[in-house]
Amino acid sequence: MSTANIESILQEKRLFPPAAEFSQNAHIKSAEDYQRLYDKAKANPEAFWAELAEQELDWFQKWDTVLDWQPPFAKWFVNGKINISHNCLDRHLTTANKNKAAIIWEGEPGDSRTITYAQLHREVSQFANALKQLGVKKGDTVGIYMPMIPEAAVAMLACARIGAPHSVVFGGFSAEALRDRLNDAKAKVVITADGGFRKDSIVALKPQVDKALENNAAPSVENVLVVQRTKQDIEMQSGRDYWWHDLQKDVSADCPAEPMDAEDVLFVLYTSGSTGKPKGVVHTTGGYNLYSHMTTKWIFDLQDTDVYWCTADVGWITGHSYIVYGPLSNGATTVMYEGAPRKSNPGCFWDVVEKYGVTVFYTAPTAIRAFIKMGDEHPKARDLSSLRLLGTVGEPINPEAWMWYHQVIGGEKCPIVDTWWQTETGGVMITPLPGAIPTKPGSATRPFPGILADIVDLDGNPVKDNEGGYLVVRHPWPGMMRTVYGDPDRFRRTYWEHIAPKDGKYLYFAGDGARKDEDGYFWVMGRVDDVLNISGHRLGTMEVESALVSHPAVAEAAVVGKPDEVKGEEIVAFVTLEGGNQGSEELNKELKKHVVSEIGAIARPGEIRFTDALPKTRSGKIMRRLLRNLAAGQEVSGDTSTLEDISVLDKLRTEA
Ligand code: WT7
Repeated sequence: MSTANIESILQEKRLFPPAAEFSQNAHIKSAEDYQRLYDKAKANPEAFWAELAEQELDWFQKWDTVLDWQPPFAKWFVNGKINISHNCLDRHLTTANKNKAAIIWEGEPGDSRTITYAQLHREVSQFANALKQLGVKKGDTVGIYMPMIPEAAVAMLACARIGAPHSVVFGGFSAEALRDRLNDAKAKVVITADGGFRKDSIVALKPQVDKALENNAAPSVENVLVVQRTKQDIEMQSGRDYWWHDLQKDVSADCPAEPMDAEDVLFVLYTSGSTGKPKGVVHTTGGYNLYSHMTTKWIFDLQDTDVYWCTADVGWITGHSYIVYGPLSNGATTVMYEGAPRKSNPGCFWDVVEKYGVTVFYTAPTAIRAFIKMGDEHPKARDLSSLRLLGTVGEPINPEAWMWYHQVIGGEKCPIVDTWWQTETGGVMITPLPGAIPTKPGSATRPFPGILADIVDLDGNPVKDNEGGYLVVRHPWPGMMRTVYGDPDRFRRTYWEHIAPKDGKYLYFAGDGARKDEDGYFWVMGRVDDVLNISGHRLGTMEVESALVSHPAVAEAAVVGKPDEVKGEEIVAFVTLEGGNQGSEELNKELKKHVVSEIGAIARPGEIRFTDALPKTRSGKIMRRLLRNLAAGQEVSGDTSTLEDISVLDKLRTEA
């Protein structure tokens, strides 16, 4: 976050209580109700979650033990049997929800589809049988690399139905990034589409899968299943590749949901950390079902008549928990949109709100800032009166963007839930409950009941009010990640060893810095590790650096974030070249293209600066702090005494 944002947040004193009418009809109606729930959960978290698990979900068999905690490894609802596809589909067919819209989908070229719970159940069951016919068994991992079409949700639910963990890879990732993830997850099948509509062009997906699988580079993959979406020419390899529509023919729609152990893996989702290699975050069935269900219900205050829209992509955790599993488990109507905000269609989101009468709307600060730039005339030209609740996620929201969202989109009548969480947490952790907690622009406010969040120093001691520290969680919760796929040691090291209390207790460390104010409100400041947040997407500096040095002209690279008005942060790369190479405009372009082909468009550096040397400590560590100052055009601040060669800094200044 920029210094200006931090300052405006430090001075933020405005308070926005929910309207009385909103609170009266909300699931959680007052600050007292919230406090009661919070205290009850804190006093006995296991009993709190067990009661909700019993009330809110269908179980094929009840658990023996609520929580088995062998730090840092947790098991929730031990020996319980459950299936999330059953909870998202089958159980609604015996209620008034049977013919309710489960998914309302708006396609980018203007096509649309509404799928009821009964129809979705049939499609999922058929596709689950198709997967079985191909030999996909319980425990086999399935890769999903798809555009934002209903088949993406169908594929996820079909995998869950037969107990095949899915691993969704965002459709904007490159063939290389896809290959790494498929290999790490040992995917047996990949589900994709011929292509997808992204902004104003068609992106190839199947050709990227072909490239990822070239020369048997992802040997676990036996089959590729392809949805026809854009109808461009693609190659189909006989015996390996099948069309989705062919597979859906002549398969039975009778596929009972497999009773899964509560701790069976539901999905593996890759996310960036501070090393070069993305990690597979493992989520399991029972705890994740409960946590995504409860957070969706209380935070978005879902009522029967709501039309709920989360604008994320299913390739991210937000899409998993708050487009697919959470809303469907609650029997809600969830909107799925294939498009994205862009200058050529500055009213696209507001058209969707108006067309379907969206009542609950959940998006990212970067999208809000992009809309501010495009002008108020676009939302003002649409009827947004159906909206009753707004949400934001992905990065800290600056108070200016919050106020615009509140006034221009919410018409000053909608509470805003600023939700702090992560891929690892499975669901929202710190957030207002909209009928209960008065909001402050820029604060995610209070922990969800059952979440014992705190701000501590490196020894795990709580810091004073308004003093900065590390954001941690003191007790396990049902939606927490269980491990890093294939690397339990990395799980322990990354999340549980940075903060080391003297009493030997394990605290979950999220990687964020934050402070708590005198009202107990949390203000998340951003990552304190080498993780960047570009438009709400997480990228490791090392990942981008590895992509750069894999180019033959590059000797060394150091990547930092620079504050950006719309994206939050933009990538700036400092690069030294192999002898004989000269920095040039062409090489600059080529390197940007190279990063895109290694990782994907989200990692495209905004700026590449060629330099003779990088500032390093005597032990050879790149001093990124100094580069961050330079990238932002600021004076270099703090201690430079550990710098090996001070002249490097002067040179970098003049080069910039
Ligand atoms: C990181 C997690 C979880 C959904 C999207 C991103 C940042 C997320 C907020 C918020 C301040 C936020 C944190 C976090 N973040 N939401 N409301 N306020 N920061 O998931 O890719 O796993 O990234 O996003 O830095 O650690 P993710």
